[in-house]
Amino acid sequence: MKIGILGTGLVGRTLAGKLASLGHDLVMGTREVAALTARREPSPRGGQSFADWHGQNQKVKLGTFAEAAAHGELLINATSGSGALSALRMAGEKNFDGKVLIDVSNPLDFSHGMPPTLLVSNTDSLGEQVQRALPRARVVKTLNTMNAILMVEPRQLADGDHAVFVSGNDVAAKKQVTEILTGWFGWKQVIDLGDISTARGAEMILPLWVRLMGALGGPRFNFKIVQ
Ligand SMILES: NC(=O)c1ccc[n+]([C@@H]2O[C@H](COP(=O)([O-])OP(=O)(O)OC[C@H]3O[C@@H](n4cnc5c(N)ncnc54)[C@H](OP(=O)(O)O)[C@@H]3O)[C@@H](O)[C@H]2O)c1
Repeated sequence: MKIGILGTGLVGRTLAGKLASLGHDLVMGTREVAALTARREPSPRGGQSFADWHGQNQKVKLGTFAEAAAHGELLINATSGSGALSALRMAGEKNFDGKVLIDVSNPLDFSHGMPPTLLVSNTDSLGEQVQRALPRARVVKTLNTMNAILMVEPRQLADGDHAVFVSGNDVAAKKQVTEILTGWFGWKQVIDLGDISTARGAEMILPLWVRLMGALGGPRFNFKIVQ
C-alpha cells in the first residue's frame, strides 16, 4: 500500500521501518528534505542521526509534508504536538480528502522543561483539532499511549497482551486501523473508545505515562485493561 508518514522523529522512523519491512511503499514527510538529510547529529532523545537511520532504511523515500500526504492512500501524523497543526497545513488539506489519517501525536508542551504539560485537555484534544483542521480526513487517534518501539512490536511485552486505544468518528476507518494494528503489528487488545472526542482521555493519560516512565526507570511498559 502507498503510505505517507508525516514526521521524521522516533515514531515516524519506527513506523516507516516496520511498514517498509512489510513491503509497503512509503514516503516520509518533513519540513525541508535538505535540512533533514543534513542532520548528522544524534537525535534529541539519544537515537541515531537521521542520516544514519536513512542509510539503513533506503527504501523509505523522503519528501515534503505535502509530497508525503499526496503519495499516501493511508496517512500517519507523527509530528510533534506543538507542530502538528502547522505540519498538516503545510501538507495541504486536499491531500487528505477521504483518506484515513492515523494520528499518533500527543499535545505535549516541553517548553517549560520536564515534565511536559498538555497544550490542550479536558474539553478538547489534539485529535479533535486535527479532525477539525481536516474535515474530509478520516482521523483515527491511536498508538499515542506507548513508546514508539512497542507500537509496531507489542509482543515484546507480555506476549502482546496489553492495550492500544482507537478513537474516531468514522467506523470503517477505525475498522481498517484495527486490522492494521492486529494484522500488521500484532496487537491483541484494541479498545475502541468511541468518537474522536474520546481522544481527550487517550491524550490526558500522557502525564501519568511520563511519571510512570520515571517511576519504572524507562519507557518499555504499557497499560493493560482488565475487567
Ligand atoms: N516518541 C515516542 O515514543 C512517542 C510515543 C507516542 C506518541 N508520540 C507522539 O508522536 C509524535 C512524534 O514523536 P517523535 O518523538 O517521533 O518526534 P517529535 O520530535 O515529537 O516530532 C518530530 C516531527 O515533528 C515535526 N515538527 C516539529 N516542529 C514542527 C513545527 N513547528 N512545524 C511542523 N513540523 C514540526 C518535525 O519536522 P522536521 O522533520 O521538519 O524536523 C518532525 O518531523 C509526537 O506528537 C509525540 O508526542 C511519541
